[in-house]
Amino acid sequence: MTGPEYGSSWSAARRLGAEEELDAWLAFARAVCDEADTLALARYRQDMVITTKPDRTFVTEADQAIERLIRERIADAYPDHGIVGEEYGTEAAEASVRWYVDPIDGTHNFMRGIPLFGTLIGIERDGELQVGVISAAAIVERWFARRGGGAWAVNAVGPGAGSPRRIAVSQVASIADVQLLYGSAQDVVRSGKAPGFGALVEEVWRDRGFGDFWGYALVAEGGGDAMVEADLSSWDMAGPLVVVEEAGGRMTDLTGERTIHGRSALATNGILHESILARLRER
Ligand code: IPD
Ligand code: CA
Ligand code: CA
Repeated sequence: MTGPEYGSSWSAARRLGAEEELDAWLAFARAVCDEADTLALARYRQDMVITTKPDRTFVTEADQAIERLIRERIADAYPDHGIVGEEYGTEAAEASVRWYVDPIDGTHNFMRGIPLFGTLIGIERDGELQVGVISAAAIVERWFARRGGGAWAVNAVGPGAGSPRRIAVSQVASIADVQLLYGSAQDVVRSGKAPGFGALVEEVWRDRGFGDFWGYALVAEGGGDAMVEADLSSWDMAGPLVVVEEAGGRMTDLTGERTIHGRSALATNGILHESILARLRER
């Protein structure tokens, strides 16, 4: 009999490479995020240069500057690694190690002066994500993980401020007790990928649209029990997936497949995953 496909030992068994190597990647990604945070904050709540992308979403000069910086740093330190970035595309797609980069997740928040935006980095080896960092400069919080090393958060206020604390998903097991998170309810409903979303909202204890990276971070640290999004790209999910899984949770697309290429996501504490997935898919 096989056990559940989540939990900290299950996640640790997905490690590909020596712990020292992954620790070095993680330290490097965190250092790059320090620079990205400085860049983002220097432009936050200032006049911004904004352009429209072909998909009719907006991009700021800060998104582009941060991605260029991260690409430069990776190319200097790890010239044989590949990169998949939101603003400048894919480089060395065939490389065995690939970095997924979302320079600013929550660009529309950033543009409107809402502090919920963050830089996302996920590092993958041979198709298995190994390291994840979510860095939210304006709320001064960061979440990070590497396979087998546990999931961690650092925040600026409260006891232990400035020191990483180990985080874990909630133990909530009943739908009636669930705090359900999502990005845009409109996106979920219009996508048609989760016809049971409205009924689930009625059934759970509480629902909040704490969207973008923050929903995954909250699931990983046990503040929320499930996070649903219906319109995503690989760079939105890569970093968060490692943090959620190392925290003991589970992340799949809305068909139930464990992939960052399925364009949708359900992250949960693991215990609730199958029952929430079934409810979302129910017509
Ligand atoms: C967006 C966020 C959001 C998702 C959108 C993305 P961006 O990213 O990840 O949660 O629903 O599809 O475009 O553009 O702010 O990096
Ligand atoms: Ca994003
Ligand atoms: Ca982005």
